[in-house]
Amino acid sequence: MINALRGMKDLLFDEAERYRYITETAARIAENYGFSYIETPILEETRLFKRSVGESSDIVGKEMYQFTDKGGNDVCLRPEGTAGVVRAFIQAKLDRQQGQKYRFFYFGPMFRYERPQKGRLRQFHQFGVESFGETAVEEDFTLIQMLADIFDTLGIRYSVKINSLGCKECMPPYRESLVSHLQDIEDGLCEDCRRRIATNPIRVLDCKNESCQNLLKAAPRITDSLCETCDHNFDRLKHLLTESGIPYEVDANLVRGLDYYSGTAFEFVSDEIGAQSAIAGGGRYDRLVEFLDGRPTPGIGFAIGIERIMELVQMPQKSREGWYLGAMLPEAVEKLLTLAHGRRKVGEKTVVEYTPKSLKAHLKGADKVGARYCAVIGEDELADGTIWIKDLEEKSERVVAIESLKSLR
Ligand code: HAM
Repeated sequence: MINALRGMKDLLFDEAERYRYITETAARIAENYGFSYIETPILEETRLFKRSVGESSDIVGKEMYQFTDKGGNDVCLRPEGTAGVVRAFIQAKLDRQQGQKYRFFYFGPMFRYERPQKGRLRQFHQFGVESFGETAVEEDFTLIQMLADIFDTLGIRYSVKINSLGCKECMPPYRESLVSHLQDIEDGLCEDCRRRIATNPIRVLDCKNESCQNLLKAAPRITDSLCETCDHNFDRLKHLLTESGIPYEVDANLVRGLDYYSGTAFEFVSDEIGAQSAIAGGGRYDRLVEFLDGRPTPGIGFAIGIERIMELVQMPQKSREGWYLGAMLPEAVEKLLTLAHGRRKVGEKTVVEYTPKSLKAHLKGADKVGARYCAVIGEDELADGTIWIKDLEEKSERVVAIESLKSLR
């Protein structure tokens, strides 16, 4: 038997419905915020992720599905959505329209070769948004508010963590003081952290190891080292969140696992799903367009991990819907096909059972497919040109002429 690959899963029935409900709800809300749909390829040149997500990140360093294609190109399955959207933005020359704002949303599969566990898959799905051209911190606030709206609409409880990762003025001196502190405590740090002092010192702050975290308590905090502009923006963001009633917590150790961020960074966390508790993450990437050879354009975005919220979503109550059509004798089956087509043409869900069965069996079948009406042609009905209909919600029955059902709207 051939099974799906480890860390990859099929979505059927309830899960497939949840996936659709989540993406449709989020897309509707994103459209209300002025975002438009974008679709980019799943396969991209490996260089794209090396230059954006960063060579020192775990995603690029260890987790890419990377291979050489038949044309000899070094390609990989996208581990996240931002890099592809930024590439598309530059390729469409939108970076040359200075002063314009462009806002996009997307959803689809992402691939990371991680060790599978609860909440961590190798193929998972994200819903994401990316906003280009807006430097105002009001946009940072608006994106966090949009995420809160999406989770509120889906009935998901969350807490919000925010941080500022500074800019090209204040980050380098902060990094220097952090490195010097890390060198002082190096001996007590785990192997990963020791390696990161040279490759990506900011990521050390994010280590999940308890003894590292204890040692890091005395480390300098980025929020104490922000330049005037970053500090002002961060204060304004906090003010806007407080005023709008979105509870948040400042977490100076929130650094995110991708290298392209600067300024505002945020994560939404759930305490109902175990260790992999981040249900969405995002932030500003004001230098990414430039890193990918575009004209300098500010950007900010977020992505939701759809599988992580799948079980938490409060699905709307499902009501019985449409028709189930059945026959008790073979000669009546053909009539059902014409009837079904009529119903479907007027936009009603209709399921036909082609095998003649007893009335009881048809009622069972109608119940199983969640139909509102079970309509059956038996011997008498065939002779009279009628059809028997049961309304499974109101529990009422009637017999009507087939002709009248055809024109029923
Ligand atoms: P990220 O934090 O790497 O950010 O991923 C966003 C979300 O995807 C996470 O919070 C988590 O819910 C989900 N996720 C990540 N890895 C896995 C996995 N292996 N299995 C299941 N779910 C997972 C980004 O990807 C950025 N592109 C977000 C962004 C957009 N920043 C700016 N714009």
